[in-house]
Amino acid sequence: PLRTTGEAYRPAYHFTPPGQWMNDPNGLVYYKGQYHLFYQHYPAGNVWGPMHWGHAVSKDMVHWQDRPIALAPDAHGLIFSGSAVVDWNNASGLGTKANPPLVAIYTYHNEKFKEAGLTYPQSQGIAYSTDAGETWHKYKGNPVLVPPEGKPDFRDPKVMWHPASKSWIMTLAVGDHTEFYRSSDLKSWSFLSAFGKEIGAHGGVWECPDLLPMKVKETGETKWVLIQSLNPGGPNGGSATQYFVGDFDGRDFKLDPKYAAQLSAKGPQWLDWGRDNYAGVTWSDVPKADGRTLMMGWMNNWDYGQVVPTTAWRGAMTLPRELTLHFDGTNYLVKSEPAVEVDRLKGRTYTSVPQTVSEALAVDMPAKSVMQSSIDVQFAKPADGTMAYLELSNDAGDIYKIGYDATANSFFSDRRKSGLVDFSDKFAASVHSAPRNVAADVIDMKVFVDHDSIELFADGGATALTDTLYPRKPYTSLRFVAGGKSVQVLKMQVTELKDAF
Ligand code: FRU
Repeated sequence: PLRTTGEAYRPAYHFTPPGQWMNDPNGLVYYKGQYHLFYQHYPAGNVWGPMHWGHAVSKDMVHWQDRPIALAPDAHGLIFSGSAVVDWNNASGLGTKANPPLVAIYTYHNEKFKEAGLTYPQSQGIAYSTDAGETWHKYKGNPVLVPPEGKPDFRDPKVMWHPASKSWIMTLAVGDHTEFYRSSDLKSWSFLSAFGKEIGAHGGVWECPDLLPMKVKETGETKWVLIQSLNPGGPNGGSATQYFVGDFDGRDFKLDPKYAAQLSAKGPQWLDWGRDNYAGVTWSDVPKADGRTLMMGWMNNWDYGQVVPTTAWRGAMTLPRELTLHFDGTNYLVKSEPAVEVDRLKGRTYTSVPQTVSEALAVDMPAKSVMQSSIDVQFAKPADGTMAYLELSNDAGDIYKIGYDATANSFFSDRRKSGLVDFSDKFAASVHSAPRNVAADVIDMKVFVDHDSIELFADGGATALTDTLYPRKPYTSLRFVAGGKSVQVLKMQVTELKDAF
């Protein structure tokens, strides 16, 4: 289907499918100057259905070009989530040394497995492309990995090259834990180890894992981060993504003892504390010279994702984000910030003079720019009892609030009166909260507003919170509200963001 734009709530700069249903990002891989984004897609309806891999490419992860569907269901099953790698040395033999194949590793989901005489509904298959991702061929020997004991949940393979053991390592979600497998040719896989049965959050089934090395910014030490989505069981309900910090020796992933202590002291750590960032994974094969850890998530929640009030399409991706790993001597922290490429969208800027605000501060800006903007506000940590927040509203009586609660030392997002909320009783039942993860004297909030979402990156990405919103009319007013006591605002700036589509 052709991409249409301009429908109510269609994001201007977040990726959406041209039409119909989308969930998880899949097969994120960089090759020959292009970022590939595949995604869980049902091309014949706007709710979840027989899964395909939709496809789009971009030079900057911001401006996307739609490509034909890459993978469609076959006799082995539907095409669930997975990853893609460049097989540089043609270890799979599916390309040539001169023209290394792209290999996608994904889950087959077979609803009729019993009728087909199988003991399992989920297995792993591979497909390859020798034309830089344009067209894909399924491997004739599929499936390449079936669950040893007929486990029902056995999915979402994320594959990476592990130089130290000269192996491809597959990280797989297996119900209530993660399993690691190894291969030398991407076709035959052997079990290595399991992690996580009694560790971390277990409010739901584990899905879409990602294991990757990251350099600790402060020490230069390399640690392994295991990203692990689960549904439900998130910090504010429904689906969300937790992470673990540890070491991986080519066989086992073990928690760093300091991270284990942090986990028992503070509870699960979440990549994003909002309701609408799920199943995010990182890009494979980002050039060494770049070296960034780049990620994108599905900006939706299984609690209500299939009934959100859009029709032509359903589901968007988050902004592309750069993740960095930090250690302050006691705690590890994965920070998320928009990838620098997002700056390419910047348009005009509107600024207020720094001042002490006792009630509210508005920025002199065009009303129509509110829905496509990034808001930068910095204020001195207010006294206890203060709720300082940004308020977005319209003349239909919709009000959305996102800010800082000084008493609780946490951020909050209140979409209870933000617009359409009653399509699901789970959408706006509570105020979402997120801990403040740094102790600086200045609170720093950067909020990206698009036509159906906000993304908060607080304190340089130390706290991220993503929520979708469906105002009955576009928000036209934006104010900073001091909420109780007076608040010293050091910076209040709004930048218009251009259309990416
Ligand atoms: C996560 C998920 C995956 C699965 C896919 C199916 O949102 O449930 O575990 O592979 O979606 O569409």
